[in-house]
Amino acid sequence: HEEITKVKNINVIELGRYEIDTWYFSPYPEEFAKCDKLFLCEFCLKYMKKKKTLNRHKLKCDLRHPPGNEIYRSGNLSMFEVDGKKNKIYCQNLCLLAKLFLDHKTLYYDNAIKEVATWLAISKEKDSPDGYNLACILTLPPYQRKGFGKLLISFSYELSKKENKVGTPEKPLSDLGLLSFRSYWTQVLLEILRKHKGNLSILDISNMTSIRTEDVISTLQSLNLIRYWKGQHIISVTPKAIEEHLKVYSKQSSRIDPKCIRWAPLN
Ligand code: COA
Ligand code: NA
Repeated sequence: HEEITKVKNINVIELGRYEIDTWYFSPYPEEFAKCDKLFLCEFCLKYMKKKKTLNRHKLKCDLRHPPGNEIYRSGNLSMFEVDGKKNKIYCQNLCLLAKLFLDHKTLYYDNAIKEVATWLAISKEKDSPDGYNLACILTLPPYQRKGFGKLLISFSYELSKKENKVGTPEKPLSDLGLLSFRSYWTQVLLEILRKHKGNLSILDISNMTSIRTEDVISTLQSLNLIRYWKGQHIISVTPKAIEEHLKVYSKQSSRIDPKCIRWAPLN
């Protein structure tokens, strides 16, 4: 597969009212992969070679939102939990679409397609032995840089809190993925350090946020708010340092409202 995966095949997709340039190769079936452009149904994500076929499909397709359970609704934002076992075709279509914007060459063959049957919530594994709370996030290009990435990240941590688990994103992270996680972690940690009076350990912070200790440490290191002393990491902050950082990171971003989540862990 190595040779094939290096060559980008489909260049453009039409999805709803958008025409979107793709970023990477995706293993669409051969007869589709030969096309420069694919037409996707914005509801079921079925892919077609011709606009005419899409138009005909639209008359028949009665899906108006993703299949599965609506597990979050707040304002005009809804999230659906789609089970790869029950909605196999939808999840395959979703994986193919997502891969167009993901560079991890092994993701699709070695992980996604096999894992489709076991995925819970879009891109969350049902039971990750490695404690990954998030296999992968995607914001389609027309919607990027509006805060949705961090919203998805925040959602994944809220689910981890419900599971009483700490989580971490699956590695390797893309550059944009790392940017987004780093930005989320920074915001969450600065807020806690600002509000909290008295001592806090790395573990306390990890328990409060479900952010894995390594991610807490690397974030505090990037902010220069941690010292390594006698074999231990010591958080070292002054109110002034926090305020300085908050000046940079004060941008208000939308958060998940935990009260609006309708979801419980399986076991
Ligand atoms: N250049 C520079 N910074 C960028 C950026 C870009 N192209 N895109 C996002 N960022 C920054 C934002 O400025 C923001 O940081 P800030 O709040 O400190 O300013 C942070 O990344 C998150 O932005 P946000 O709007 O919440 O994210 P998004 O909706 O654009 O989605 C991804 C981020 C990673 C989901 C999106 O880029 C994507 O789908 N990429 C392709 C798939 C991928 O790589 N997924 C991650 C690996 S699994
Ligand atoms: Na492609």
